[in-house]
Amino acid sequence: MLQTADKIDCFSLPSDESGDGNTTYFDVPQPAKPLRVLHLEDDDQDAELVQTTLIHSGGSYVFTRVQSREEFQAAITNQEFDLILSDYGLGDFDGLTALRQIRRISADIPFILVSGTIGEEQAIESLKSGATDYILKTRLARLPAAIDRALKEMAERISRRKAETERQMMEIQLRQAQKLESIGRLAAGVAHEINTPTQYIGDNIMFIRDSLGELMSPLRLFGQLVQAARDNKLDPELLDSAEAAIKTADLDYLMEEMPKAVEQSLQGVDRVTKIVRAMKEFSHPGAAEKTKVDLNHCIDSTLTVARNEWKYVANLVTDFDPNLPPVTCLPGEFNQVILNLIINAAHAIGDTLNPQTSEKGTITVRTRQDGDWVEVRIGDTGSGIPEAARAKIFEPFFTTKSVGKGTGQGLAIARSVIVDKHGGTIRFETELGKGTTFIIRIPISSKGERQMPVQESNQHIQGNSHS
Ligand SMILES: Nc1ncnc2c1ncn2[C@@H]1O[C@H](COP(=O)(O)OP(=O)(O)O)[C@@H](O)[C@H]1O
Ligand SMILES: [Mg+2]
Repeated sequence: MLQTADKIDCFSLPSDESGDGNTTYFDVPQPAKPLRVLHLEDDDQDAELVQTTLIHSGGSYVFTRVQSREEFQAAITNQEFDLILSDYGLGDFDGLTALRQIRRISADIPFILVSGTIGEEQAIESLKSGATDYILKTRLARLPAAIDRALKEMAERISRRKAETERQMMEIQLRQAQKLESIGRLAAGVAHEINTPTQYIGDNIMFIRDSLGELMSPLRLFGQLVQAARDNKLDPELLDSAEAAIKTADLDYLMEEMPKAVEQSLQGVDRVTKIVRAMKEFSHPGAAEKTKVDLNHCIDSTLTVARNEWKYVANLVTDFDPNLPPVTCLPGEFNQVILNLIINAAHAIGDTLNPQTSEKGTITVRTRQDGDWVEVRIGDTGSGIPEAARAKIFEPFFTTKSVGKGTGQGLAIARSVIVDKHGGTIRFETELGKGTTFIIRIPISSKGERQMPVQESNQHIQGNSHS
């Protein structure tokens, strides 16, 4: 006779069905190890019947039998099990309650109801609550197969989850890698962008230094002239040398050029400041949570840091909605999407340019509010997307570019950021030989947030400005 909460070791021949040769699952019982079964049953005869049925089926089991709520509680708190078998009605306790308790702790452990009385409705109810299966005591022969199936399903579930976790990890790593890669290439571009104004600031300051040197002599003579005039001792020799000094210094020229040099230097400093600020805004370090941002400004910063990527092939036309309300988004990730689309647009234009003529293409970036949504359009006058590629461009690793130019990650990341992380959409319109426009739509706010208009620049053209 079986005792309450008694452990009975029942080693029989190792089952050849419990393992499928796949031994990588971390918490799936191995064939060599006996299956640890928690058996909730208040009838001694039934308990014995169930356990002997299993032993005779050829498996290897360690049973822990419990009969009441308290014993069940104690067992699941203190021990680990591979499987739970439970009667349906148990005096003041019942299988369904036991099932709900265990599901709060573990979603995976197989739970099979073994009952003499279970009706169709109860059976459905138990499956809804997370039972793996139910077996009538009159049909106990089905039990070993049901256990096998339950264990296999659990193994599959765990391995699916593991694969999904691995996929997510890989996606995060890829995104990180792409971000690093683009920051690397942007850094080179930004260095170049900063180098140009820094150079002419330096040239201008050297010009101002030399000019000041040339001004010294006339200024000194000017002082002597004033003194001589006051003392009434103005002699022609002093006048002659003052006149000569003015001529030598070419005062007219200096008076015209020096203010220009100062002005240009200040513009250069402005330019450097703008680039550095844009770089900071582009990367948005630490903005892991959605924040309300001025999307026009975000896009403008991204265009500035990416300028070296497009300026040789395209003029840029921005057409920003001046009344665009702040948009709730992940600014760092959103900027990465804009960057990916701009680089693609520049590549598509670059492919079609005639090296003989210096004519550039056009990239147009447009923002608009459309009800509760914001729409961003990035259009290019490039090659267009060939029919055969259209269905694949959002797939990870799909690229038509040479190694070093493309990795096929740009649009896959764009879709994941826009669709999965912002609940938006991304699509494109394309015509071979004419160009492509990518259209992004994201909701302006998450939940009925107040919307305030933002002041932003209207249409303006970049790309022909100094470089
Ligand atoms: N604006 C565009 N014009 C033409 N083709 C494009 C454009 N954007 C993307 N594509 C096509 O989609 C492919 C995938 O783009 P993407 O995911 O950014 O990867 P990558 O740019 O590294 O190739 C590109 O190789 C290109 O063939
Ligand atoms: Mg790309």
